[in-house]
Amino acid sequence: KTKIVPGGNIQAAWEALREEAMNCTRCHLYKHATQTVFGEGPVDADLMFVGEQPGDQEDLAGHPFVGPAGQMFDRAMADAGVDRARAYVTNAVKHFKYELRGKRRIHSKPDAGEITACRWWIDQELALVKPKMTVALGATAARSLFGKAMTIGRERGRVLELPDGGAAWITVHPSYLLRLPDEDAKREEYAKFVADLKAAAAAM
Ligand code: URA
Repeated sequence: KTKIVPGGNIQAAWEALREEAMNCTRCHLYKHATQTVFGEGPVDADLMFVGEQPGDQEDLAGHPFVGPAGQMFDRAMADAGVDRARAYVTNAVKHFKYELRGKRRIHSKPDAGEITACRWWIDQELALVKPKMTVALGATAARSLFGKAMTIGRERGRVLELPDGGAAWITVHPSYLLRLPDEDAKREEYAKFVADLKAAAAAM
């Protein structure tokens, strides 16, 4: 695949983009977050994963998917036989949105305006990385990528086309698996998630 960035090399362009994102004030979320958590991974990755937004641990570490959801994601990737190190992993929204409850920072869902504001960054990550397959992890990622609300249950299980072109796959967010109270349901949903990861990677 050919990746051409006018006037420069892709790695340098990505680094400049990341640097710029560190000072993002496109929406109000930067005010209370520790830092921008930008995407990570090889800029020539074939596979891109898009999550929702950094969580508490990601906000502190400055890296995507390093907390509990990230560990679930890592485990599922390993079980699917997909190498996370070769994938580009990012989020629809790049600042942690939360509510304070005492000293605890409780995750709060990004709204449509915040998702739209942050789309600026995803668009440029997509333009640089040009993945063969983009996987939306959950409804927020799907809304960001498709520009409208998508029903995971209806859209999962097959290759979709992004509005600007490119193959995509929609699956659940790994934190959904963490929240399931029932062990049987958890096992079943985990297996479905692993199967999605495997199928998305195989469909490239
Ligand atoms: N959940 C996400 O959607 N992204 C992260 O980076 C961490 C948790």
